[in-house]
Amino acid sequence: MTIHFIGAGPGAPDLLTLRGRDLIAGSPVCLYAGSLIPVAVLDHCPPGARIVNTASLELDQIMAEIAAAHAAGHDVARLHSGDLSVWSAMGEQLRRLRALDIPFTVTPGVPAFAAAAAALEAELTLPALSQSLVLTRTPGRASTMPPAESLTNFAVTGATLAVHLSVHNLAQVVADLTPAYGVDCPVAVIWRASWPDQRIVRATLDTIEQAVAGSMAKNLQRTALILVGRVLAAQDFAESSLYAPGYDRRFRPQDATSRFAGAGE
Ligand SMILES: C[S@@+](CC[C@H](N)C(=O)[O-])C[C@H]1O[C@@H](n2cnc3c(N)ncnc32)[C@H](O)[C@@H]1O
Repeated sequence: MTIHFIGAGPGAPDLLTLRGRDLIAGSPVCLYAGSLIPVAVLDHCPPGARIVNTASLELDQIMAEIAAAHAAGHDVARLHSGDLSVWSAMGEQLRRLRALDIPFTVTPGVPAFAAAAAALEAELTLPALSQSLVLTRTPGRASTMPPAESLTNFAVTGATLAVHLSVHNLAQVVADLTPAYGVDCPVAVIWRASWPDQRIVRATLDTIEQAVAGSMAKNLQRTALILVGRVLAAQDFAESSLYAPGYDRRFRPQDATSRFAGAGE
């Protein structure tokens, strides 16, 4: 038997990967992480599957579920929202599975930041404006931040920021970012990206708090992502060199003297 860790995507059931769907369908046990996993994803479980919401469980209890499935020879689909590489608590589960010599696989999913960017119809890296995206958060009750990973430190770079788990800290986010980004820097708060009740608030650093408070303060308390950066409103950015007519490249050599001539075939 195998524990299949599966990124279940940001919410829309059809943003689950085909591999994830098939692994769920082939696993008689499904452990899923709370309300961020849409019920329609659980519909892929085979008839009679044991389906457990792990939101209220402790790590030992989750491991007990896994050990019981292992003893019974059952594969397990272990679902976490978005992708598994960020804020999934997969790392601690994998460490325990390695110690127990229980086999596992890892299947990526669509992360929340990508769903939020799609909702905004935005590219988060634009030529000369921003070529980096920082996935970060502010400290929470259960999570301290390494001291160097402060928003003020990230702000020095001017990179596009995707601030997770932090809409309740919006005032602090604004205070930390305004000195480097400027009051007119575009901000978007995207709540439940890709869900049917997705909501978007667009503003600037000096107006976002009021915009959020005035529109949907209660709804925005959970599952919201804050995107910050000039890319969010830029219209006059440069076009990328890659598709420029005169740009010599492997798949489009300019002439017979190009160092790429014949290389792309
Ligand atoms: C525990 S983290 C999980 C992140 C997830 N593993 C990922 O790949 O995006 C939960 C946070 O992700 C963000 N998030 C998750 N799903 C979201 C969605 N559909 N829309 C907006 N933000 C979302 C919110 O910031 C939320 O507080």
